[in-house]
Amino acid sequence: MRAKEDFASYYEKKEDWTEKIEALEQTAQQTARMDDWRLSYHLMPPVGWLNDPNGLCRFKGEYHVFYQYSPFVVEGGSKYWGHYKSRDLIHWENCPVMLYPEQAWDLHGVYSGSALVEDDVMYLYYTGNVKQPGEHDFIHSGREHNTALAVSKDGVTVDKEVLLLNNSAYPSDLTCHVRDPKVFAYDGKYYMVLGARTNTDIGQVLVWESDDKYNWKYINRLCTEKPFGFMWECPDLFELDGQWILVVSPQGIERQTYHYQNVYTCGYFPLYGDFRNKDVKLGEFRELDYGFDFYAPQTFEDGARRILIGWMGMPDAEYSNPTVARGWQHCLTFPRELVWNKEKEQLEQRPIEEREALYRNEVLYRVAGEMFVPCPTASEIVIDNHSDAFCMEYDKTFCLEWEDGCLRLLYMPESYGRTVRNLKVDHLESLQILFDSTSVEIFVNGGEAVVSARYYPNGQRALQISGVCDVRLTEFKDPCQCIDGKTLF
Ligand code: FRU
Repeated sequence: MRAKEDFASYYEKKEDWTEKIEALEQTAQQTARMDDWRLSYHLMPPVGWLNDPNGLCRFKGEYHVFYQYSPFVVEGGSKYWGHYKSRDLIHWENCPVMLYPEQAWDLHGVYSGSALVEDDVMYLYYTGNVKQPGEHDFIHSGREHNTALAVSKDGVTVDKEVLLLNNSAYPSDLTCHVRDPKVFAYDGKYYMVLGARTNTDIGQVLVWESDDKYNWKYINRLCTEKPFGFMWECPDLFELDGQWILVVSPQGIERQTYHYQNVYTCGYFPLYGDFRNKDVKLGEFRELDYGFDFYAPQTFEDGARRILIGWMGMPDAEYSNPTVARGWQHCLTFPRELVWNKEKEQLEQRPIEEREALYRNEVLYRVAGEMFVPCPTASEIVIDNHSDAFCMEYDKTFCLEWEDGCLRLLYMPESYGRTVRNLKVDHLESLQILFDSTSVEIFVNGGEAVVSARYYPNGQRALQISGVCDVRLTEFKDPCQCIDGKTLF
């Protein structure tokens, strides 16, 4: 690891950053009020860039969502941990940045990680990114991916930070790309999974074990029999209704018409066997989302439920977001409850029921043929389909059509590069669609499949629905109309 002095030009004092970021966020808040592309009930960066959700947890009765934040560079620069908290997952308070690139082990970015809550203490595990000077590809040489821990007693300030593992602790057949610790307690011990890329460009997950949260022993790896991509980012490992599941975001999967249509993929493997044993097997990989904008999700347990939040964005995508011109980019998905469907051996995702607190006017429509339906900026539309063809066109912006076993989301020109996404749906029974000003999340057949995307309206906020179906349209209140003071939106 290199000394801080080597990085004099990068290194700034935390106090300077805090002040600069607060000033930037305050200025942005003024213009945000006039920006009709800002979302109403989805988390987005106060200013600048956002990517992965990090450190999701419930701590002393409040939910915490940290996220990869680059307040100074709207196209994504050095990463900090931005921070929101909430009592109900609907009304959010913007908190000061939690982690800054200020240690010798994280000088070029505090990368993704997770939270473990124990005895009213929050343990935040993260990857410290350091780039060495000189000629490097930063894959095989020139990059440190350090695993570190920040401890917080109040959930808003850090009491201490420690380095746990550096590249020399990782197995020797790996590249420098080993990151994104997800930590959980199980069976009287602690476990950590880390995403990795081998020297032969194979994506894998490393499993570590600890008795005390600080000292970690490498015990196993999770991989497919045949290579599946060159890198697995943001692993998450959990048990849901008796089934162990490994969520990963693999990179380097070949695109197909109905699968893996984005530059990077995101999905899960059911695990067969004990994740600590060499003979554990990964079952069939399934995608978590079929839209343009979904990546690097993370889950956490909240009492009896497991909740997933994803990044509604895609690294290195060939499409873009015009919000960049307005000084911010990307958002997170609305929280989804995960359900394991034993019969079909698949995960189902449902938007959490807390959204009902936002319900206001509800209107029912019976469509037989063609009908125009207004689409309020923030709303939920539930469609029960009764025919063998269905089409829903969002005025001059996109079209969602189902025919011959294929559900297709087709964007019209002027969609900033977004084109078409297809998925196989033999029988379309229902659609539950969450609209926000520039995001749409489509839950198919009770959440068997999900399609998430950003959109930028080119016409009226109105839908033309064709088919035979029942439609329930519920407008959402703007959460900022019921805030208790500090909420940002
Ligand atoms: C996934 C990712 C992570 C990394 C983080 C950096 O989007 O590449 O692997 O920790 O983003 O922002």
